[in-house]
Amino acid sequence: MLNVNKTGNKKVTHLSGTEKNVIEVRGLSKTLGGKTVIDNLNLTVKAGDIYGFLGPNGAGKTTTIRMLLDLIHPDRGTVKLNGFDIRTDFKKAVERVGAVVETPTFYPYLSGYNNLRISARLYPGLPDNRIAEVLEMVGLSARADDKVGTYSLGMRQRLGLARALVNCPRLVILDEPTNGLDPHGMKEVREMICQLALEQDITFFISSHLLNEVEQVCNRVGILHGGRLLTEGPVPELLQTDSETIELGTSEEKEVLEILKGIAYVKAVQMSSGGLIVKTEKGHSAKINEELGRRGVFVNYLLPRQNSLEQYFISKTGGGKSDA
Ligand SMILES: Nc1ncnc2c1ncn2[C@@H]1O[C@H](COP(=O)(O)OP(=O)(O)OP(=O)(O)O)[C@@H](O)[C@H]1O
Ligand SMILES: [Mg+2]
Repeated sequence: MLNVNKTGNKKVTHLSGTEKNVIEVRGLSKTLGGKTVIDNLNLTVKAGDIYGFLGPNGAGKTTTIRMLLDLIHPDRGTVKLNGFDIRTDFKKAVERVGAVVETPTFYPYLSGYNNLRISARLYPGLPDNRIAEVLEMVGLSARADDKVGTYSLGMRQRLGLARALVNCPRLVILDEPTNGLDPHGMKEVREMICQLALEQDITFFISSHLLNEVEQVCNRVGILHGGRLLTEGPVPELLQTDSETIELGTSEEKEVLEILKGIAYVKAVQMSSGGLIVKTEKGHSAKINEELGRRGVFVNYLLPRQNSLEQYFISKTGGGKSDA
């Protein structure tokens, strides 16, 4: 099922949980240069997902994607795409799969159209208008005949996406599709992904180190850190915690702080400009207000802070980079 989230983007919601596994990774491990880069990785991506593969620099996202596409071989474990083992049934596994791994490269002296024509030769039997169609999908029709050397970074990213779409894929794997783009370019790519998921019924697997990005488009995420999957699940479930954070606006900070220290369900208090940041057990913000009022202290405002994927991510990874 598809719905529209708070930012206006379309999101996929699974109701039954019986959707087909489009990507199935089991016990994947890889050592590179004497270092375990991927460590016993398990991943499940279902049909209709926009799956965010999150992790800081060096976490192993690109290495995993390379193994998903059989560009490098794992030391241990299996990868199945659309139910077919990538090692033993490669052709069937990648039949309806499109991908962009790291920065897409093109012939700069050829037009966008001709670059795609070269790529399309890999797929005999495509309709004549398929290249024009994918250029239209990514909003590049007007520049299709210009040399790629004259394209902006954002246009090249979009051309990469177009190339991944040429063979009418059911699954598209994108490695950091918004890398290097400005906020406007990021939004464009994000919207394009949502639109394709909605209108063309494409399952997406998108790697990113940008939590905010992932939160806005993906319905499910997996968090990778140091080659290990820390967690995997639907975004709302990951954000459900047993605590909440509220911002208290007051000019009587010291007095309020003293009162809060004595309340059992208050877990932590931190001073901030013009008020206090209070971490409490879930559902206790009204009680705090009541308690302060009872003690004769009235706050200017009491603002619940939404849990974000970023807070979750930092709490899981310690906020550190995987690269050491
Ligand atoms: N050929 C290689 N030889 C040795 N180490 C490698 C090799 N390729 C990757 N690595 C190491 O594996 C780890 C994971 O790299 P990878 O490129 O998969 O991370 P990533 O999550 O894609 O990072 P980024 O966000 O920077 O793209 C890094 O520590 C990297 O240095
Ligand atoms: Mg990478």
